[in-house]
Amino acid sequence: KVEKFEILKQKNEEALLGGGEKRITSQHKKGKLTARERIHLLLDEGSFEEIGKFVIHRGRDFGLDKEHYLGDGVVTGYGTINDRLVYVFSQDFTVFGGSLSESHAEKIVKIMDLAMKNGAPVIGLNDSGGARIQEGVVSLGGYADIFYRNTLASGVVPQISAIMGPCAGGAVYSPAITDFILMVENTSYMFVTGPNVVKTVTQETVTAEELGGASTHSTKSGVTHFSCANEVECLNTIKALLSYIPQNCEDDPPEVKYEQGSDETRKALNDIVPENPNQPYDMREVIEGIVDTDSFLEVHKNFAENIVVGFARLAGKSIGIIGNQPAALAGVLDIHASTKAARFVRFCDSFNVPLLVLEDVPGFLPGTDQEWNAIITNGAKLLYAFSEATVPRVTVITRKAYGGAYDVMNSKHIGADINYAWPTAEIAVMGAKGAAEIIFKKEIAAAEDPESKLDEKVDEYTRKFANPYKAAHRGYIDEVILPENTRKKLISSFKMLENKVDKLPRKKHGNIPL
Ligand code: COA
Repeated sequence: KVEKFEILKQKNEEALLGGGEKRITSQHKKGKLTARERIHLLLDEGSFEEIGKFVIHRGRDFGLDKEHYLGDGVVTGYGTINDRLVYVFSQDFTVFGGSLSESHAEKIVKIMDLAMKNGAPVIGLNDSGGARIQEGVVSLGGYADIFYRNTLASGVVPQISAIMGPCAGGAVYSPAITDFILMVENTSYMFVTGPNVVKTVTQETVTAEELGGASTHSTKSGVTHFSCANEVECLNTIKALLSYIPQNCEDDPPEVKYEQGSDETRKALNDIVPENPNQPYDMREVIEGIVDTDSFLEVHKNFAENIVVGFARLAGKSIGIIGNQPAALAGVLDIHASTKAARFVRFCDSFNVPLLVLEDVPGFLPGTDQEWNAIITNGAKLLYAFSEATVPRVTVITRKAYGGAYDVMNSKHIGADINYAWPTAEIAVMGAKGAAEIIFKKEIAAAEDPESKLDEKVDEYTRKFANPYKAAHRGYIDEVILPENTRKKLISSFKMLENKVDKLPRKKHGNIPL
């Protein structure tokens, strides 16, 4: 019996070594941690329970029958983060480059199935050379089994993908379907085809980092939601992210204990919007001024900067914020801003995170680039996402709310619950100058001094429409509030909406314009 116990001990020790000391050293030399070190940093101390530690591959070709490693290139199991259950898979680059075999895929599938049945998030730590080349189609089948489950789990349990090494070819499509992607700067990359294939097909010379590194995907493509300076920051960001979101779609987001202060007014908010309506300001200042101190976690920070999205807490409760950003492109809605915000709205709605919209939008971005790349279809995504959201929805118009963008940005008409405006709000079809030039065109042309006539008409239009009161008279705005009272009002309105029940008409699923 003692001998049998000893065998188990040896096997456990063997499994912990993955592809062996040499490859572990090489992993460290690249500035990367091992699969197990990452799990250790991610989960609560001592909480990890491994599943499938002794699984090995079944490949027989190209010498595979002579090379086996316990665990087969992926460490899977469950544990806790801040005492909340999560399922994890962590690919082990020291074993066949973390490549995905049939059995490797089965291990991932197993924990995904458990996560769905038990209603807890799945976190994937990706570091893999892709499909196990020696295995061929069974490996591709394994990928598809994962993609299929990613899709079924979408909107049921949160799914988070950290890219901590290579992630290429078909492998990219699992992270792509998950809710959030994090990448580590300089040591991770994602692409459908690598630099060599790109060179052959398009004659472009590009490095892996330029083609699909963290900075590319966090600024140009928007594929990744977070670009992290190193692996520790990446793992900490996952923990922070989870603190705002529930375990599954039936659950509410976690709350942080908050003792309401006797005075929730925030005077500093009064000074943010400049006198001149064309002068920019940073919407992040408004966000920071409203939410609980240091609680804002920005998502997609460096992509489509003309819209700001992220999680925060208000009186200890989780909210999702979407704010136009006057400091970038005057806060216009363009293709990227619309899709970025639409995806965020849909995540929040899937997982019961109430929505706060901070609006200062001069309209949609004009131009052939936008039109030819389908701003119509893409802008419609945001409209659709807000319209179908059934979570509590509150809007604060800080300044401009012009044209169709007024409708899109969580207006009353598309189902927002409470709409506030600051006295600086301008709710109109367009800016005063543009409007005056169109409706008084003849009058201005016929005037002795067309320029002063235009000024006069701009003034007239401004007085009539560049304010929140026309909309408030109609009830499109529920209350015009002083900026300093915004936090107080929002705490009260989200509390009032806490038990909101709203249902969409019965359907198989909608057909969001893709
Ligand atoms: N299948 C099987 N083994 C793989 C593999 C794969 N897809 N990708 C990497 N490996 C193995 C390598 O043979 C090597 O084995 P060894 O330790 O026994 O020498 C080990 O993993 C490490 O790979 P290596 O190439 O030395 O690492 P690297 O950091 O220099 O490069 C990659 C990493 C991912 C760029 C490179 O391995 C690669 O191009 N892999 C193939 C990618 C691919 O085309 N995948 C299939 C399409 S999805």
